[in-house]
Amino acid sequence: MKKIFLKSQTTIFIFDSGLGGITIYNYVKSIFLNINFIYLLDNKYFPYGNKSKNFILKRLIKILKKISNHYNITLAIIACNTASVSSLPIIRNYFNFPIIGVSPAIDLAIKKTKNNVIGLLATNTTLKNYDIRKKINFLNKKYEIKTISSSKLVFLAEKKLLGYEIMINEIKKIFKSWYDLKIFPDTIILGCTHFPLILNELKTIFPKKIYFLDSKKNIILKFKKNINYNQTNIKKKENIVFYTKKNQYLKKIEFLFSEKGFKNIYRFKI
Ligand code: DGL
Repeated sequence: MKKIFLKSQTTIFIFDSGLGGITIYNYVKSIFLNINFIYLLDNKYFPYGNKSKNFILKRLIKILKKISNHYNITLAIIACNTASVSSLPIIRNYFNFPIIGVSPAIDLAIKKTKNNVIGLLATNTTLKNYDIRKKINFLNKKYEIKTISSSKLVFLAEKKLLGYEIMINEIKKIFKSWYDLKIFPDTIILGCTHFPLILNELKTIFPKKIYFLDSKKNIILKFKKNINYNQTNIKKKENIVFYTKKNQYLKKIEFLFSEKGFKNIYRFKI
């Protein structure tokens, strides 16, 4: 895809409960140049997948209020399906900068599927979401949507990204209920930003010809709608990563982000 230079002072705030938002960051920064990124991982409350919608909504408002008091945010990306479905569009009423999010690519999946059986992997909170359930119930008249929610898969994805070995058998166990399916999904939606991190592992346990869909394509379209970009090349500032709780993985997290162009890592007290 063509690279795009953005106007100066463009600060994009990326939020996730953990490291899954990196899959969105990688994509955005590969297309749009000269952006100043602030990434916040709310590891104090990770994982979000078992938190209530209300809790997530309040937490996000609190975080966005504090961050936007300190930084001039051009655009916020909620790079977490769970947080996006729990907070958007309500959260937009609280801020004067655009906020975009990710959600399971169900519409794309129904265009892709040939056998009309679709797999949807997401967190419990995402699958319990009213709008998502309504959509699934409606589509189930014509398609079969097989859902699996798993916090374990989220933890395994983080583990892998931090450089730990993960066992394929642990992943296989999560999909036990799918092994007896008469017709296996030909299209699988990765409805959590952590899951593309273990795409290779997922590919090894499923039949060969499966089409995997994640949420990153949509994000660029939303991004272009909200950001005014041109071709000026302006010197880049330094990216910042914030975490909300000290833990034993901090050194590894720091290393991971420093390799991705984040030179500053700080604790965000909230
Ligand atoms: N990365 C988040 C998502 O896309 C969820 C991980 C979590 O449970 O915190 O849904």
